Amino acid sequence: MSGLGKRLMILGAGRHQVPLIQTAIDLGVEAHVCSIAGDYPGLALATYFHEVDISNSQAILELARTIKPHGILTTATDVCLESIGLVVDEMNLPGSGFATTSSCLSKVRMKRKLVASGVPTAQYRVISDANDGIEFFNNHRGDCVIKPSDSSGSRGVNKIHDVEDVKPAFESALKFSRRGEVLIEEWLEGEEFGAQAIVEHGECKLLVLHSDITTPPPRRIPVGHGCPHPNEEELIGTVRNIVIDAIASLGINNTISNIDFILTEDGPKIIELTCRMGGTRLPEVCGTYWGVDFYALSIHLALGEKINLPPIPTGKANAAHNLIVSRQGTFLSMDQINDEFSHEIYFDIGERLVLNSAQQIEMGYIQLIREDPSSILEDLTNEANRLTSSVRLGEE
Ligand SMILES: Nc1ncnc2c1ncn2[C@@H]1O[C@H](COP(=O)(O)OP(=O)(O)O)[C@@H](O)[C@H]1O
Ligand SMILES: [Mg+2]
Repeated sequence: MSGLGKRLMILGAGRHQVPLIQTAIDLGVEAHVCSIAGDYPGLALATYFHEVDISNSQAILELARTIKPHGILTTATDVCLESIGLVVDEMNLPGSGFATTSSCLSKVRMKRKLVASGVPTAQYRVISDANDGIEFFNNHRGDCVIKPSDSSGSRGVNKIHDVEDVKPAFESALKFSRRGEVLIEEWLEGEEFGAQAIVEHGECKLLVLHSDITTPPPRRIPVGHGCPHPNEEELIGTVRNIVIDAIASLGINNTISNIDFILTEDGPKIIELTCRMGGTRLPEVCGTYWGVDFYALSIHLALGEKINLPPIPTGKANAAHNLIVSRQGTFLSMDQINDEFSHEIYFDIGERLVLNSAQQIEMGYIQLIREDPSSILEDLTNEANRLTSSVRLGEE
């Protein structure tokens, strides 16, 4: 593993791409950061900055033809996946090609491929109006969920308990779908968890399971993660087989793949997967447990370099939790964070906090690292709740 002197395109310069950009620089990689102009923290870090809309595949391809990178990647965002796939194909780079990246962006295409390969996933139907949804719901025993095919961050995803819920849920999903594509699925009962799969030359070299902390239904949003997963030992065999099939069915390659599961009575089933690392501090959480730097790994994979992994975890049990508030205003104060937690707070006192499209403000995150994993999730969640409820915001 070296990376030294190689050219790497990193798409995105937001908060979640900052550690990726910093790691590339630390590795001595010639990091070409691509983003629209704006108040993005990654811009200041970049030695080579290219002002471009990363969701514009053709613009990214044209730029790539001038940079001639050895690799291209992102983390924690989906908006640029098609651009990455196009560049990987056209410039013959390591990584996942266009057919793969576009399937990861469309739940309809993704589920078609998963089902065709016999990968366990929720039963579904593409619906073009509320009546299609009502028909599916009435023919299905139990709750369902309606979601846009191509969105993220749980936007427009709503649980359906009653037939009356279908119409508003369809409309909400449609609003968040770029292509106007909506699907209804059976609601899978069970605990939500996830995995990061390190895929090198089409092979799953390491699978790291993690637990998820989500907001309660009807709209479940992942807000935190812990590693190791408390039932890793009994789950890993089954999950590994599912992941191998899922990766092969979508053609995910030379990347770290983020995979979401529900542990149902019939075993684990995939909610969705993608050809990049997860957000919500998953690289930090899984990397802290395995004792490896996930950002560095993903860079080496994108550059087509051989990676070295320890055979067993060499780090510590830990979990991270986002600090999320659903109000806006001027940031006045927040309680002191307990010393045991490492943390990052994205805003300064006096800054104006504005709700995002999911009607939230992500204020930062806290992470708890301990030898004994038993009460990490509980203590972390309590601290996160204590901190977010202590946030005082000034009037608009
Ligand atoms: N079929 C399902 N059964 C149970 N929960 C689901 C199902 N589909 C989605 N969810 C819940 O909604 C969340 C968001 O749905 P997801 O399909 O992952 O959309 P997004 O791309 O916005 O993340 C999931 O993390 C999960 O908590
Ligand atoms: Mg999801």
